[in-house]
Amino acid sequence: MVQSSRIAIIGAGSVGTTIAYAILLQKISSEILLVDINQDTVRGQILDLSDATFVASTQIRAGTYQEAGQCDIVIITAGAKQRPEETRNKLIERNYEILKHVIGAMKPFNQNVILLLVANPVDVLTFIAQKLSGLPKQQVFGSGTFLDSTRLRLKMAETLKIAESAVHCYVLGEHGDTQIIAWSSAHVGGKPLIDFPEIRKLDKEKVAQEIIGKANEIIKLKGSTYFGIAGCVSSLVQCIVLNQRHIRPLSTFVEEYGCIFSMPCVLGNKGVNRIVDVYLNDEEKEKLRKSAETLKRICENY
Ligand SMILES: NC(=O)c1ccc[n+]([C@@H]2O[C@H](COP(=O)([O-])OP(=O)(O)OC[C@H]3O[C@@H](n4cnc5c(N)ncnc54)[C@H](O)[C@@H]3O)[C@@H](O)[C@H]2O)c1
Repeated sequence: MVQSSRIAIIGAGSVGTTIAYAILLQKISSEILLVDINQDTVRGQILDLSDATFVASTQIRAGTYQEAGQCDIVIITAGAKQRPEETRNKLIERNYEILKHVIGAMKPFNQNVILLLVANPVDVLTFIAQKLSGLPKQQVFGSGTFLDSTRLRLKMAETLKIAESAVHCYVLGEHGDTQIIAWSSAHVGGKPLIDFPEIRKLDKEKVAQEIIGKANEIIKLKGSTYFGIAGCVSSLVQCIVLNQRHIRPLSTFVEEYGCIFSMPCVLGNKGVNRIVDVYLNDEEKEKLRKSAETLKRICENY
């Protein structure tokens, strides 16, 4: 147990509270604060979560924005959901207003705070959070394509009948439709992933669409997704708190492409230590450039 870690979660909906639960079970935090505009929601979630605090010596309570800004890590899940027929840009506008309010209310920040963006569209919101918070860029990043990458790893591990942890492969770029699978750098036990006969015969475009579409498939069946992202975020929190310096694909500013999207990052207790210059072939680089152009055009409005 690292006694000093205080974690705030903004947004006590499905994603925020499942993250709180996952962090609680990991026994890596002394205190978790939940902040939401809906006071009844927070109160209900705190009461429910408090029944699980016996598994760890973690205090969980409702907090204010001001208190959140003084924590070690702030996880932002507050966000509006897309309405039927609503355009992506309209949704971004609504989430921009929420983020502006949340960041403004948390200021002045603990200067060492880590802001971890989870609400969507995560790349654009990370750009806005970097700008509005005024914090060093390495301390403000998004969960990005970490979830997409774990989905890909699971698919590859099942195909090869090996452990997920033995598969090294990344989904990079936007956490969204323009993301790419970095097939050319993926490997298992030092052997290129694409050289395995079982992988060679896979329809790569179909795999890519399956990974992009998995969230929608879950939403269609049960309304929303939260377990996967909670697993990802709690493991990121552990990596920060314990300064583990794992490599994770995260939304961060990537100089080469001039935008914020996911690249493999070394993550430690100061945030993103550095970006790993992963090998990509020309086709993958070109797709990433197009992905970057789309994101840059959206970010120009903010
Ligand atoms: N990055 C990922 O991989 C990933 C995965 C799943 C979901 N998400 C995103 O996470 C976000 C949350 O999803 P959810 O299912 O928990 O939604 P939800 O509607 O269940 O919860 C959102 C919560 O935010 C709160 N909120 C709204 N405005 C607020 C404000 N100004 N301050 C504090 N709280 C505020 C709402 O009251 C609500 O409780 C969405 O944007 C969703 O797209 C991201």
